[in-house]
Amino acid sequence: MSPVTTAPTVDVHLETDWARRSLIADVRRGLGNRPLRIPPQWLYDERGSELFDLITRLPEYYATEAERSILQQQAATIAELTDADTIIELGSGTSDKTHTLLRAFTSTGQLRRFIPFDVSEATLREAATTLARDYPGLLVHGVVGDFHQHLTHLPSDGVPMVAFLGSTIGNLDHEERQAFLSVLFDQLGSGAWLLLGVDLVKPVDRLVDAYHDPQGITAEFIRNVLHVLNRELHADFDVESFDHVAMWDPLHERMDLRLRANGDHLVHVRDAELEVEVLDGEEIHVEISTKFRISTISTEIDHAGFQVRQVWTDPPGDVALLLAARP
Ligand code: SAH
Ligand code: TRP
Repeated sequence: MSPVTTAPTVDVHLETDWARRSLIADVRRGLGNRPLRIPPQWLYDERGSELFDLITRLPEYYATEAERSILQQQAATIAELTDADTIIELGSGTSDKTHTLLRAFTSTGQLRRFIPFDVSEATLREAATTLARDYPGLLVHGVVGDFHQHLTHLPSDGVPMVAFLGSTIGNLDHEERQAFLSVLFDQLGSGAWLLLGVDLVKPVDRLVDAYHDPQGITAEFIRNVLHVLNRELHADFDVESFDHVAMWDPLHERMDLRLRANGDHLVHVRDAELEVEVLDGEEIHVEISTKFRISTISTEIDHAGFQVRQVWTDPPGDVALLLAARP
């Protein structure tokens, strides 16, 4: 008899207007102060998730395929080393690369549950449905939330391995990473695991190509955040008059992605009751993408209380995957 498919569940432990209230608070704080900022989690509406998916297929954006190749090589070893019965994936998106892990962990019979966690509810629901269909017998239990605020909504029973892939941790600054890792440490019981994917420091010209591709997909992705504000908060950004800027910040060893105004703009964000004067050449900070050295990210992980057990890189050394234990 073939195993039955269990319908996926998706929990939203948040008030119905949480996303909207949180967006308004972020916009008031971010556009009410200098430098102007819009936090990056608002990039991922339906169009944003589609554009991100296109980015992962760009020849200039090496990171997705590099991480996939390590996962393909090491998935069976990871399953064996951790003996985890639950995979929790943070910032799971489409969970595309995660299939490699799910196949390895289900083929040993150890995996009971998969918990994708993402701020983007539509993307999460779609992924959960596909995964439940592809892995009959696996409990797929999605959780909608912001990993800066809602890690406590994750179940903490069993032996979980938290996968945080795609160098999403690089989109957090040093302070945010420290806070994130220490909350995660407290949330996980002894015996849990952390599988972390990071992008490594490399020549600047490759990084600039990866974050400013000639087809303009990345520019469209970053600019999309203004469409989100126009639609969700009745703002009146003239989206096409903002240029995508991707700079290397050598001090913090990170890419800095901003939108630079062409001309002076008086922007109204109606639902946030906000009026912002954006001057010609002024920049809105949207996202950072930190590039790591294995020694420094290992130290950050250790400082939070985890113990790094294994580090793998792809053959050119573009990205790394670290496996750490929660003692
Ligand atoms: N893990 C996938 C997707 C990375 S894109 C990969 O490796 O390719 C980043 C994902 O994180 C998106 O799906 C986005 O919706 C989610 N995300 C971004 N900020 C978030 C936050 N603060 N809390 C939860 N999810 C977040
Ligand atoms: N987290 C990945 C990175 O920093 C993917 C990503 C997030 C990204 N935002 C991006 C890639 C903007 C290109 C452009 O690389």
